[in-house]
Amino acid sequence: MADNYLEKREEALRTAGRTVLRRNTPSLETLLFRNRSHRAFDVSYVVAMRQLEAIAAVNTKLPSGRNAQRLRFKLLDAGSGGRDFCRFLQLGGYLPELHLPVPGTEPQAFIIVCCTEAESPTVDIDLGISLQSMALRAVEIGLNALIVRAFDHKAVQEALGLPFEPLAVLALGKGLDKIELVEVPAGSDLRYYRKDGTHYVPKIRLDDLLL
Ligand SMILES: Cc1cc2nc3c(=O)[nH]c(=O)nc-3n(C[C@H](O)[C@H](O)[C@H](O)COP(=O)(O)O)c2cc1C
Repeated sequence: MADNYLEKREEALRTAGRTVLRRNTPSLETLLFRNRSHRAFDVSYVVAMRQLEAIAAVNTKLPSGRNAQRLRFKLLDAGSGGRDFCRFLQLGGYLPELHLPVPGTEPQAFIIVCCTEAESPTVDIDLGISLQSMALRAVEIGLNALIVRAFDHKAVQEALGLPFEPLAVLALGKGLDKIELVEVPAGSDLRYYRKDGTHYVPKIRLDDLLL
């Protein structure tokens, strides 16, 4: 993904004679754009427990069905079990031949999201809001995230001695993947793919999303 996307966009707007707001913090558009699913991480960058806490803290401000707030969070940094936790996770289901992550690029920090009650549509909506909000906070503080649902929930619950079933994992770190979004019409093949070292993610164009 081109890092200078915003700068180019600002320049385009400026030359079009329009006022551009300069912000100290990235706009939601920028955060959404940068919030791509990385499956390779810089293991020389150590995510600190306080960063995980800052990311998990978004959950104190989120909407929740009936405001029940049933989600609970287990934080794992490299020193508290994150170093080899990736063995439980399946990454890159559309690219099985790549056996991701490539050794030496495994994420080493995680937020494991559990629920105090059985999974339900309402819990799943809360879960999605939580995961995306935490991913955006991660991007805001210079990290990258990957939402993972493909893992043996019982095995992770047992291995970590969790009192509740884990429903999803957020893997965190400094992402290394070069990722680009590709606008496509509805009905296209939506599987992500790799070509010449770039990871391409098809996204349905707005006109086709609107009813
Ligand atoms: C609910 C959910 C579950 C996901 N589970 C996995 C997973 O188990 N393994 C994985 O590699 N990616 C997983 N992903 C990441 C998606 O593959 C990714 O969001 C998608 O390819 C689009 O890429 P993008 O996030 O960069 O837009 C999951 C994403 C979501 C929202």
